[in-house]
Amino acid sequence: MRTAIIEGDGIGKEVIPEAVAILDYFNETYDWGIEKVPVEVGFGKWERTGSAITDDDISLLKSCDAILFGAITTVSDPSYKSVLLRIRKELDLYANIRPLLPIPGIYKLLKIKDRKESDVDIVIVRENTEGLYSGIEELGDEKSTTTRVITKIASERIASFASNLAAERKNYLTVVHKSNVLKSDKLFLETCKETAESKGVNVSNKLVDIFAYDLIMNPEKYDVVVTTNLFGDILSDLGAALLGSIGLAPSANIGDSQAFFEPVHGSAPDIAGKGIANPIAAILSLKMMFEWMGKTREACLVNRAVAAAVHDKIITPDLGGKYSTKEVGDFILSKVRQLD
Ligand code: NAI
Ligand code: MG
Repeated sequence: MRTAIIEGDGIGKEVIPEAVAILDYFNETYDWGIEKVPVEVGFGKWERTGSAITDDDISLLKSCDAILFGAITTVSDPSYKSVLLRIRKELDLYANIRPLLPIPGIYKLLKIKDRKESDVDIVIVRENTEGLYSGIEELGDEKSTTTRVITKIASERIASFASNLAAERKNYLTVVHKSNVLKSDKLFLETCKETAESKGVNVSNKLVDIFAYDLIMNPEKYDVVVTTNLFGDILSDLGAALLGSIGLAPSANIGDSQAFFEPVHGSAPDIAGKGIANPIAAILSLKMMFEWMGKTREACLVNRAVAAAVHDKIITPDLGGKYSTKEVGDFILSKVRQLD
């Protein structure tokens, strides 16, 4: 098993080492035989070499089973192509999974009184290869267009993934779309409905605008949600508000044979270098990697160790704490060892 480690830029370099320390612990203790492959891509590399990601980097990533990724800085220079989009596309990581599950005790800690943690347990499944991120664009000074591509095959694939996940949970799937305006979404909606029904999954649908409202006002109504690329991107950041901090939201990009795990947040230039970034989103992304590898016991230990950090208030400033990234990471690792 080969796991690529991409720290990336900004706080990616601070939070990923905390997740890797936990990976190292299990790998060494239980002889998992995971080979770590450091890969440098992103803004720092672009500044140094003029290229944010090379064909060799892509080949190296293709030779790995899993990838643990921090964050990278994006700049608007036309020669700077999105690294993430390229990786997702070239490795065909078609399902972006964003769980919205609050850490036990986090609402009490943050004094959130108008909502119950038990009301929020949602997984947003975002189609990751097409939609408005198809990369088909014509740029001009007077008119610029971006083509929104929806295909039956990609819609079926993501609907099938989401339906299988729904079947393991409450057997209930919500399709989020804008088919009243976007003709392309009719195909998405119809394909998702057919696929879910063929698998015996109860399916309903919501227009994306009212869904955005409902996600915050009535999160208890939803379980597994499937949607197109841009909607999923926005809704999952919105949904991260239900977790209490963007620094707590993990995600996975899953393909047929490889997967890529990353915190939802970016490189956070405003706090980079200060040592105060919350490492929990990165650590929970590692937990998702353990689940994908079938290491459910270890995933569960990581969850419990993270909840202990919240319980004992060993937390970073975004959660009102005074601890550093490293101190929180060290605490979670020590809890993992203790619980193991
Ligand atoms: P961001 O997620 O980096 O930061 C948004 C706000 O949340 C900032 O105030 C930041 O300090 C805070 N924050 C984010 N993560 C945190 C953490 N772990 N702990 C504590 N506070 C945290 O989003 P922003 O500012 O829009 O983007 C900054 C850069 O990151 C841009 O260049 C953007 O393109 C890039 N980006 C990269 C992503 C990726 O690599 N997956 C995802 C999102 C943005
Ligand atoms: Mg995003």
